[in-house]
Amino acid sequence: MVNRALIAGIICFVSLAVTTAGQAPQPTAAPTAKPEEGIPITDPTVQKACGSCHKSDDKGQMSRISFQRNTPEGWQTIIQRMAALNGLNIEPATARQVVKYLSTNLGLAPEEAKPVAWEAERRLIDFKYTANAMPNRPATRCHSLGRVISQRRTKTEWDLLIATHRGLYPLVDNQAFAAADRRRAIRPRATDVPPDNRHPVEKTIDHLAKTFR
Ligand code: HEC
Repeated sequence: MVNRALIAGIICFVSLAVTTAGQAPQPTAAPTAKPEEGIPITDPTVQKACGSCHKSDDKGQMSRISFQRNTPEGWQTIIQRMAALNGLNIEPATARQVVKYLSTNLGLAPEEAKPVAWEAERRLIDFKYTANAMPNRPATRCHSLGRVISQRRTKTEWDLLIATHRGLYPLVDNQAFAAADRRRAIRPRATDVPPDNRHPVEKTIDHLAKTFR
């Protein structure tokens, strides 16, 4: 009896595997895709302060850090988070030097920073993001959208940022991301022809990666 159940189980498993194997292959990264370009970091203070965890490659690009640009406030927040959550040990004077180097060399251009200056200046404005409706909802529940649009990241970095949110705030999917998804399922947009059935977060990442690169 036990053997029969076992055999039935194996048959089930094998046929499932065969069916799955017969389906369309999973998309894989195009072999010709160019690696995303980062900004080399040449400053010994940053290399020393951050390099024990963020390795430099042969072009001087430090993992994670080289692949985004941020405002001084943004860099400061990141460093505070590294100290609070990831075990970074840094003197305040060194942290200030790192923020200065990163915001000078991996900062925003004036024309990028100006439209979102209200975020760093903590001015309350009635801001509506109109380039794409998707990012408004998921982002504004926990912080202002200014926090999002005052950074520039590669596609991989936007992806990782979402992954970090999911890791740190396991409820985020229900609180923000999936809530947007449910609303969308109930009220599809008129412009959704043909329907774009990707998860709202995927669409948002796509938009961010194109617009805030
Ligand atoms: C002791 C290890 C450690 C040190 C030192 C460290 N980090 Fe990190 N850092 C991490 C880890 C782990 C992650 C990935 C998890 C995360 O994002 O919290 C990370 C992620 C990041 C990211 C990507 C996350 C984001 O918000 O975009 C940035 C940028 C970053 N670190 C900057 C820095 C800077 C700048 C320094 C130096 C002042 C630094 N880190 C020093 C461990 C470290």
